[in-house]
Amino acid sequence: MSDKQKRILIVDDESPIRRVLHQKLSKEGYRCEEANSAEQAMHWLTGNTAEVVILDIETPGRSGTEVQKEIKARYPDTSVIVTADVNEGSIAIQCVTQGADDYIFKPFKLDEVLLSVERALEKRKLEAKIKKYQQRLRGEADWQTAGMRQRFLGTIEALVFALEAKDKYTAGHSQRVTSMALAIGKELALSAEELEDLRCSSLLHDVGKIAVDQLIQNKPGRLTPEEYEHIMIHAHLGAGIVRPVVNEAVVEIIDHHHDHYDGSGLHQAVAGETIPLGARILAVADAFDAMTSERAYRAAMTIPEATREIKRCAGTQFDPAVVKAFLKMAKSTS
Ligand SMILES: [Fe+2]
Repeated sequence: MSDKQKRILIVDDESPIRRVLHQKLSKEGYRCEEANSAEQAMHWLTGNTAEVVILDIETPGRSGTEVQKEIKARYPDTSVIVTADVNEGSIAIQCVTQGADDYIFKPFKLDEVLLSVERALEKRKLEAKIKKYQQRLRGEADWQTAGMRQRFLGTIEALVFALEAKDKYTAGHSQRVTSMALAIGKELALSAEELEDLRCSSLLHDVGKIAVDQLIQNKPGRLTPEEYEHIMIHAHLGAGIVRPVVNEAVVEIIDHHHDHYDGSGLHQAVAGETIPLGARILAVADAFDAMTSERAYRAAMTIPEATREIKRCAGTQFDPAVVKAFLKMAKSTS
């Protein structure tokens, strides 16, 4: 739309003023509408759009400053030019400080009004351009941040896989745990957002093992209480490693993935439903995969054996509701 096809609403209770403005601006190619009161103007604006409103602040019915404020609040893209008598100068200036785009003193020259309309339209165009530019910049920044985060997460994932692959007993552990946790999550009707948090935390849940002594971790035998305590700090360490790049829900799931439902886990601060649901799900998937994987010091349990063990620990180590979903899921896939 060219500027000259734009719509101008002229609000003035004096019909001769409306008429001369209408004639002048129409001659310049603008489409003009008239209103003789604030009420009439507001009524017209509810069903129509004007690029510019020329508003006499002396229009009967309501105070000009109030009307001008209402127009700007309801239609922020509409430019408002107020007209006022010279002795109302302070009110006109007040209108501009409250959002009006310009003011003209009466009696005005028609060319002066035309110039003010053109200026207001130019300003409007510029504001729209700035808005678009800012949106684009914001979009690019979001895209860059998301891209960086994705690359960083990819690096951590690769690190976890590399760490697990070094040991034939743990190779592929996080990926298998993720598949199982997601299957349980779906059984529990988790939302898409919760499933995504669960996926992310399951893939990264053991990242803290990077900081754990490899000799203890791969020890071919039972761990001493001290060694067990050393290994178990990986949950908290892992949460700290991923915190800068994931949301708080993912951090919490990783931090609590070794918590016991009955609160009997090592250095545990929360219990029961207070443990994040994702962590309660991850605990079952993690334990099941660990039990069904061979270790240097023991053979792998069979699936029925491990399933029985999970069932036995419902209510103590594991959330009974999660175990129920796990059993349902296991039954449907067996
Ligand atoms: Fe773990």
